[in-house]
Amino acid sequence: MATILVTGAAGFIGSHTTDQLLAAGHKVVGVDNFRTGKAANLAEALRSGAFQFVEADVAAAGVLDAVVEEARPEAIIHLAALVSVQESIADPALNFSLNVLATQLVGEAARRHGVKRVVFASSAAVYGDATTLPLREDAEKRPISPYGAAKLASEALLLGHAASYGFTARCHRYFNVFGPRQDPASPYSGVISIFDRRFREGAAVTIFGDGQQTRDFISVHDVARANVRAATRAGLASGVVNICTGRATSLLDVARVFAAHYPQAGAPRHEPARAGDIVHSLGEATRAAAEMDFRADVPVADGLAELIRRGA
Ligand SMILES: NC(=O)c1ccc[n+]([C@@H]2O[C@H](COP(=O)([O-])OP(=O)(O)OC[C@H]3O[C@@H](n4cnc5c(N)ncnc54)[C@H](O)[C@@H]3O)[C@@H](O)[C@H]2O)c1
Repeated sequence: MATILVTGAAGFIGSHTTDQLLAAGHKVVGVDNFRTGKAANLAEALRSGAFQFVEADVAAAGVLDAVVEEARPEAIIHLAALVSVQESIADPALNFSLNVLATQLVGEAARRHGVKRVVFASSAAVYGDATTLPLREDAEKRPISPYGAAKLASEALLLGHAASYGFTARCHRYFNVFGPRQDPASPYSGVISIFDRRFREGAAVTIFGDGQQTRDFISVHDVARANVRAATRAGLASGVVNICTGRATSLLDVARVFAAHYPQAGAPRHEPARAGDIVHSLGEATRAAAEMDFRADVPVADGLAELIRRGA
């Protein structure tokens, strides 16, 4: 069993990744500064003797290096980031520090301390407004935000470090991740977490546009499983893969599932489509299947049912 360091461990995806690593018998060192993560997300992990938590800022010089030196992990799963596209537009310098510089520090720490593998949380945002669907990994990259640009730059940085210093970099372009522990507080959070909270409150949801826009929604359980596999599976070479289902779901479809469970909530309100919103997003899932035998297996309906059960 391996020791894995997870940055952003107190976050939505990080805490599920940590839980799955522990369940598989690995030791986990979780690092987070609670910028957007919550200690409550780690309640299960903190009950495990195989989990160690370090409260630290991975973008601060020398900090991650010291943690890696002490922990000596076989792999780093780097999830800590500024996660809001809108915040990256409002504060591009902070985006650079948290989403590019921090990745550079991960690459350097991997080099200095002989870490064999780095798994990186990239995003479908690297494709920007590319319109040929489904999006394949080799599609043209046209980021339309500092966030998307930083994710693309981070992929390149890690792949370059990996090739130079003899570790393996696995870059995961997540599509629209949903599931328990996603924070609905931000207006820019995943639409499913916002719908979940509004329906539980008995309130009507707002749909921008006609609701026919589609997304490739993937359960956080599948995403965490992909992270664990990329960090621990023998024989993987460096590479970039979409982490998606390859299936499109419309916002109206999602709203209908919630509405069936919460008949007291009002009908969705429609407002004009927001400028810049992408109408359709869909990933091509075959490369992850070929390279690491990963296929998302939680149907969106089951993932929504899990959220609804939890809120009942
Ligand atoms: N949720 C999605 O749909 C989605 C899609 C594509 C990519 N991603 C990426 O996945 C990763 C995880 O996102 P998430 O949805 O779990 O968001 P999240 O906000 O729940 O998790 C991010 C975590 O990183 C921590 N963090 C931020 N800056 C830090 C720093 N400097 N030092 C230490 N910890 C720091 C936060 O406190 C938080 O716990 C991010 O890199 C994000 O960009 C998420």
